Amino acid sequence: MTPSQFENELTIHEHTQAGTLDEFHRAYEAAVDDIRSDFGATHPLRIDGDEIETEETFTVTNPGDTDQVLGEFAAGDETHVDEAVAAASDAYDEWKETPWDERAALFRDAADIIQDRKLEITALMAYENAKTRNEAIAEVDEAIDFLRYYSSELERTEGYSADTREPTPGQRCVSDLQPYGVFGVVSPFNFPFAILVGMTTGALITGNTAVVKPASTTPLTAHAFFDVLAEAGIPDGVANLVTGGGRAVGQPMIEHEDVAGFAFTGSREVGLEIQRTFDELDKRGPVIAELGGKNPVIVSDSADLSKAVSGVKFGAFSFSGQKCSATSRVYVHEDVADEFTERLVAETNDLSVGKPENRETVVSPLIDDSAIERYDDICDTAAADGTVLTGGSRVDRDDRDDLPAGRYVEPTVVTDIPHDHALATDEHFLPFVTIHPVSSLEEGITKANDSEYGLCAGLFSEDEDEINTWFDRIESGMCYVNREQSATTGALVDAQPFGGWKYSGTTGKFAGGPWYLQQFMRQQSRTVVG
Ligand code: ALA
Repeated sequence: MTPSQFENELTIHEHTQAGTLDEFHRAYEAAVDDIRSDFGATHPLRIDGDEIETEETFTVTNPGDTDQVLGEFAAGDETHVDEAVAAASDAYDEWKETPWDERAALFRDAADIIQDRKLEITALMAYENAKTRNEAIAEVDEAIDFLRYYSSELERTEGYSADTREPTPGQRCVSDLQPYGVFGVVSPFNFPFAILVGMTTGALITGNTAVVKPASTTPLTAHAFFDVLAEAGIPDGVANLVTGGGRAVGQPMIEHEDVAGFAFTGSREVGLEIQRTFDELDKRGPVIAELGGKNPVIVSDSADLSKAVSGVKFGAFSFSGQKCSATSRVYVHEDVADEFTERLVAETNDLSVGKPENRETVVSPLIDDSAIERYDDICDTAAADGTVLTGGSRVDRDDRDDLPAGRYVEPTVVTDIPHDHALATDEHFLPFVTIHPVSSLEEGITKANDSEYGLCAGLFSEDEDEINTWFDRIESGMCYVNREQSATTGALVDAQPFGGWKYSGTTGKFAGGPWYLQQFMRQQSRTVVG
């Protein structure tokens, strides 16, 4: 296959190379200050190019300072879903007939607009989902990457059209890929920009139209993308935004007879429910879903322990472990287990828990009250059934007068938990990791694979044979060796297409990779005789 004509957007790397990192930090801090006073407006739905107000609204607050209201948002319901799907259906014929190179150009323009607003959107995330600056800028970079990569894929394949052979003289044959119609897109809070941009672009660039519902905690960043699409010139009705709850908006979207396909990133439970509903309703379009993980890391006795400690620490605790890709269980060789664990605990204790906009913060506040309740529950269980080596509590604000009222919790390392205990099998989406000594690489691989998930996996080993054995046997979509900046998180578009095996996904085709866009289309073979 021809390699794509594509380069990743790597803001931090580029500033580091150029020796201008301090300038980046100052510019980010200025952007965070600039938008501080912008909050509090009421935001409508966006259907058919119009702004639609609703009787009911919901309030979004800052997870790091829950007294700060970020805005009121229209609470859509089934009627609004009907209106949005009708607008998307009406816009479909003209949009699908728009030449593929015009569609690609529009999304390239969208990427350029985001590039100009990079710091503003990055700063938004400090308030909306409490994402730290390095993680947030990488997320905006990833959104730009999705837009440019998918544009380049459309260009590389000439709109997914291929002349096929002339089987007998006089038969002219073409086989190409065509869109399905209207797609539903439901996106998560943890990558409110990149994942929303990636899934929405996947649906639209291939000629479908879409109704998009962002997570209820992160509608502001969704509006930022819809502003960008409007500025890039997306025709009315092609992309429609309906904010609101899962039951009120998500469910009618899934069940709507004119919603042909669905793109979803979120919990396994909801993703499989969407798939079941599609099956029950005999829908023929795809459910393209990414559904979480319980990501294992193996630390061999040959490992460089500095790399292993660093990789597990950042994999488990950056953005408070609120990633499907977060490191959540570690199988460490018994000969190095004590040293590894001691060093991991020491370095975890040095991690800064704090406001996301602070330069040193790694562990940022949790997204909502249900997350903090789940954190309390699993820490109580860990204390009862195992040994909590560090963490296990909410941060006590009596000891931290720098912290506003927010959901700050300690990164938590736990051991003495059986490998089949719910703490070590269920996805928690929290800054929580379990450590399990093993006697061999073999035992580590068997236990790593003994999971219903298969999203990301890490290995720390300096032994080529071990690395090859692990690659051959690990059941995981994303496989990383000796990655000290994070054992399991932080895939790059094109270089590391992102997706999972087993219950971590529904299709086995990965976002940011060469087979992603095809999922949004169906093949058509055209023959003319004579
Ligand atoms: N794509 C995100 C990562 O790799 C989830 O961490």
